[in-house]
Amino acid sequence: MVAATGGAHVPARYLRPEVSADAVVNDGEAAIPIIDFERLLHPEESRDESARLHRACQEWGFFQLINHGVPDGLIQGMKANIQGFFGLPAEMKQQFAQQRGQLEGYGQLFVVSEDQKLDWADVLYLNTQPPQHRSMRFWPDKPDTFRSTLDAYSAAVKNVADRLLVIMSKNLGLQPEVIANKCVGGLQSVRMNFYPPCAHADKVVGFSPHSDADLLTLVLQVNEVQGLQVKRDDDTWVPVHPLEGAFIVNVGDILQIFTNGRYRSVEHRAVVDTERERLSVAAFHSPSIHATIGPLTELVSDQEMMMYKTVDHESFMKLFFSAKLDGKSFLQRMK
Ligand code: SIN
Ligand code: FE2
Repeated sequence: MVAATGGAHVPARYLRPEVSADAVVNDGEAAIPIIDFERLLHPEESRDESARLHRACQEWGFFQLINHGVPDGLIQGMKANIQGFFGLPAEMKQQFAQQRGQLEGYGQLFVVSEDQKLDWADVLYLNTQPPQHRSMRFWPDKPDTFRSTLDAYSAAVKNVADRLLVIMSKNLGLQPEVIANKCVGGLQSVRMNFYPPCAHADKVVGFSPHSDADLLTLVLQVNEVQGLQVKRDDDTWVPVHPLEGAFIVNVGDILQIFTNGRYRSVEHRAVVDTERERLSVAAFHSPSIHATIGPLTELVSDQEMMMYKTVDHESFMKLFFSAKLDGKSFLQRMK
């Protein structure tokens, strides 16, 4: 296991006083909106529900999606396989270990130097769509159903993301396919997260505060332990209480850029539990590698009004990784 287990001693690299210092948690009335996918598609109810979706993307950058149509059997199968994988002996998981400086595989995210502070989590990160982008050597063959289940899950989740992007395009006053077209042959990667318990949970962080770089992220909570928190403008953190089987959907940086800031890519983080492990799985959706990344000209005709520059996908990825190395906000680099 990469992350330290839940003993009383916390290694120095995991101590994060700077993160816990601003831990004002706001667990009152505020909660991310719940959007019903069936209502979005329903002839009589879609108008209201679409308007709610539009507001959620503008105000929160986050919502829970219920009735998304991904079969419950597939959701349960994915959960069981993720739990099965992380439950394997360490040496079996290590067969799928990420290589230094690479994202794919089993390990930790964004370890860029020996003295870097670490998140209290193990991850398995895989490219999932399109299938030719997969590195099968990182795909666990245990549990036996892992590969086939992830294959089916990734396709089903991408389908939901693509359909949401069509509705979002309409909500923005665009032709329905404008954003989705950028995602023909679009990329999806999946990150499975395992957060061990920590006796000093208030001194560590499961996932450092960040915004997602992609267009749209769909997260499934795998077990009943909660930990995801969303930052509000008043600097408080609102805990997310996932509904069983719902997707927690968030707007990523690319969607904020496409919409010239109309939709918000909001900072979030994951905290850990003192006694119980927590598991989640995030699916990230990005445009195809041929799409340029910048404000959609259909939304901002006047060059002067563009809040971000336009770059090709490769330059975008370079900017993203260089910002990560510097610990700087990546969106600032797109100005
Ligand atoms: C994240 O992907 O930002 C964290 C997901 C989670 O563990 O809830
Ligand atoms: Fe995230």
